[in-house]
Order: sequence, then C-alpha cells, then structure tokens
Amino acid sequence: MKLSGKTVVIAGASGGIGNALIERLAKEEVYFIFIGRSEEKLKELVKKYGNLHKYYIADFTNEKSIQNLIKSMKKDLVKIDVLINSAGIGVYKPFPDVGFDELRDSFYINVFAPFWVTQGLLPLMRKSSSSVVISLGSGMGILPREMRSVYCATKFALRGMMLSLAQEIRGKRPQIVLITLGSTLTDFGPLTVSDKKRKMSRGKSYFKPDWVADKLTNIIKSENRLSEYRIFPRGYSSEV
Ligand SMILES: NC(=O)c1ccc[n+]([C@@H]2O[C@H](COP(=O)([O-])OP(=O)(O)OC[C@H]3O[C@@H](n4cnc5c(N)ncnc54)[C@H](OP(=O)(O)O)[C@@H]3O)[C@@H](O)[C@H]2O)c1
Repeated sequence: MKLSGKTVVIAGASGGIGNALIERLAKEEVYFIFIGRSEEKLKELVKKYGNLHKYYIADFTNEKSIQNLIKSMKKDLVKIDVLINSAGIGVYKPFPDVGFDELRDSFYINVFAPFWVTQGLLPLMRKSSSSVVISLGSGMGILPREMRSVYCATKFALRGMMLSLAQEIRGKRPQIVLITLGSTLTDFGPLTVSDKKRKMSRGKSYFKPDWVADKLTNIIKSENRLSEYRIFPRGYSSEV
C-alpha cells in the first residue's frame, strides 16, 4: 500500500510502540487520527506532527466512551485506510492477588475495545480501496506464563478474535492482521524502561520500539500480508 495521504488511526497513540510507529509513519506523509485517554498527550502529538492531524479522547475502560468515540469518528471522517489497535495494559501478578477491577479493565482495554472499535469503524474502512487493521497481540497470546493469568487471558482472547475475523472477511476489506509480538523496550506492564534495561544487562532480550515500528510499517505497506506475524526476540520459549 502506498501510504502517502492515507488516513491512519492509532489507538494507544501515546504509548511506547504507538509513539515509535507515529514517528516512522510521519515520514510516509500519512494523515493521523490519534486516540488516547490523555488530552495533554494527544495535544503534544498534534503539536509535534502538525495541526492537520486530529485526535479523539476515549477511555477504553468505559463502554459509553468507546460508543461516543465511534459515533464522533463516523460523523467526522470519510474513510479510514489503516487502523492500529495498540492500546493495552499488562497486569502481571499472582492469581490470588488479582482484583476484579484489574481483570475487568484488562478485558475492556485489551479485548472489548479492539473488538468494538474495529466493528464500529468497519463501514469507514470499507470506503477505502485497500484498508488494513493491525492489532498488537503478544507472545503471551500463545504461550502461557506464570503471574500472567490476566494478561495471557486477554491476549489469547484477542488472538482468537482477530484470527477468526481474518477468516470471516478474508479476501474483502479491511484485511485483519495480528502481530504476535515479544518483549519490547517500553514502559508497558509493571517494569519501567530503566528496569528493563537492567534486565537486558543480565541477558534478557527486548526489541527496540523503533525496530518494531519499522517492521509494522513494512507490514502495512506490503501487498501480500499474512493474518499473523510472530515477532519474538531471542530467548523466547514455546515450552508450556
Ligand atoms: N511492550 C511490550 O513488551 C509488548 C509486547 C507485546 C505486545 N505488546 C502490546 O503492544 C501494545 C502497545 O504496548 P506499548 O509497549 O506501547 O505499551 P505502553 O507504552 O504502556 O502504551 C499503552 C497504550 O495504551 C493506552 N491505554 C492504557 N489504558 C488505556 C485506557 N483505559 N483507555 C485508552 N487507552 C489506554 C496508553 O495510554 P496512556 O498513555 O494514557 O497510558 C498507551 O497509549 C499493547 O497492546 C501491548 O499489549 C507490548
């Protein structure tokens, strides 16, 4: 897909991967729609990348907020070429300590929001001649891990949902693509980037967000995309 002039919607625009992808895609002269819950962070993005880009505030733990987002976008926009589902949270803790709110919010942000946002924006994506939905799944969506009961549950669910949808609308627009991604050097989850750099010095591998952004950009531009890309750093194990 030639990206110049295309409308690219990024949910999770303020995140580490969202930010890196925006920086990369800005070189392709796309028109951005940023989605996030912090108006301050969204305004910063518009200030950095230019006033022609637009933002919408939405809290993905709130059903009404998601409904309002879709309503506003359908009212304002003519078509969408690329939708990136990158909002997510990572609750990593022992099973007995998981509170109901954490479980609920994890499912809202990691599963329900990408479901409703993708479903709600389908009509706008069908107005584009070559639209694609890219969702950020995780290695934890195929590999169970201790202390990850909540996160794994949401990413297994996201993977099932997106790969099923990919089959349902195969050959039609938009194409559905899941990125089954390994650990990346952002503030995602309970560890900060500094904590993760300390782990790197002890041998743990993390992808750099700009490297991930390059990979994602190549996938978006590709004319022959797969339904799933598994991108794991060295050291990932498939042992259960
Ligand atoms: N980093 C990794 O190691 C890794 C590995 C595999 C997969 N992934 C997946 O990649 C995606 C992006 O991760 P990242 O590394 O960029 O994480 P991040 O830096 O923590 O960013 C997460 C994004 O989600 C947004 N978000 C959180 N709660 C929200 C809510 N209630 N409503 C709306 N937006 C909300 C955040 O907004 P705020 O800025 O307002 O908090 C932020 O934009 C996630 O889906 C994650 O599961 C990450």
